[in-house]
Amino acid sequence: MPTTIAITGKGGTGKTVVSALTVLTLVEHNWCPLLAVDADPNLNLDAALGLKVEATVGGVREEAGSRRRAEPGGMSTAEFLEYRIHQALLEAEGFDLLAMGRPEGPGCYCYANEILRGALDRLTAAYRAIVVDCEAGLEHFSRRTAGDLDLLLILSDPTTRGLETARRVLDLLTEVRTKVGESKVVLNRVRGEPPASLRERADRLGFPIAAWLPEDEQVRALDAAGRPLTELGPDSPLRVAVTNLYMDCGLIG
Ligand SMILES: Nc1ncnc2c1ncn2[C@@H]1O[C@H](COP(=O)(O)OP(=O)(O)OP(=O)(O)O)[C@@H](O)[C@H]1O
Ligand SMILES: [Mg+2]
Repeated sequence: MPTTIAITGKGGTGKTVVSALTVLTLVEHNWCPLLAVDADPNLNLDAALGLKVEATVGGVREEAGSRRRAEPGGMSTAEFLEYRIHQALLEAEGFDLLAMGRPEGPGCYCYANEILRGALDRLTAAYRAIVVDCEAGLEHFSRRTAGDLDLLLILSDPTTRGLETARRVLDLLTEVRTKVGESKVVLNRVRGEPPASLRERADRLGFPIAAWLPEDEQVRALDAAGRPLTELGPDSPLRVAVTNLYMDCGLIG
């Protein structure tokens, strides 16, 4: 069974940046083969990793849904789906990337979804680690489009309001259908010394802050230039902090 890590949080808290650095860090520490999953319909994990997605699981589902169950003389829908999913898989150095794309539109997708789930289960079983860049919100955990997770990082900005949102996410986790092994609240874009007041607030809210990720000028510069995070130097403060986070989690030595 692969080890699955998902990164969630409010819009703009750094999910895609931290997901991309998680992929690069784990691959660097030989967590191979690794599958990166972009579960945000807005698709930006590919650009962060210097790739360009052409096809998504949602697109394959649409195509399969508009097909008849078995085209005479052709592939069955199940064979077709399996084939197209493998085509949608982007191969990069040390990892593959799969983009989920849009959730299903109106119409009946039961049959397509059923075989899709089987195809995805078979595909993901072949990996040692899976890293999921989530869309903001917990809907996909309720819909159970995400499989069970070993580790969930809940990203927040370093504000009291951000911590309160993280508390709500932790509470919601007890209601969703996805099983979550461990969940950790991580503050991102912290400038300077972490303020003691936030640590105290988190204490009062009943959870520890697992990591403080710094505001990183190198990340900002790459973003402004439209360059991928694969070009980030090994001394980037955010990269170092993400490595330390996975060391603390015991995932890398
Ligand atoms: N530690 C950091 N230092 C500097 N810039 C950062 C840092 N983390 C994120 N950013 C920048 O903040 C912006 C939002 O980051 P990102 O796209 O990763 O957030 P997100 O949570 O995935 O957003 P969305 O909810 O839209 O998917 C980007 O411009 C990114 O480069
Ligand atoms: Mg994102």
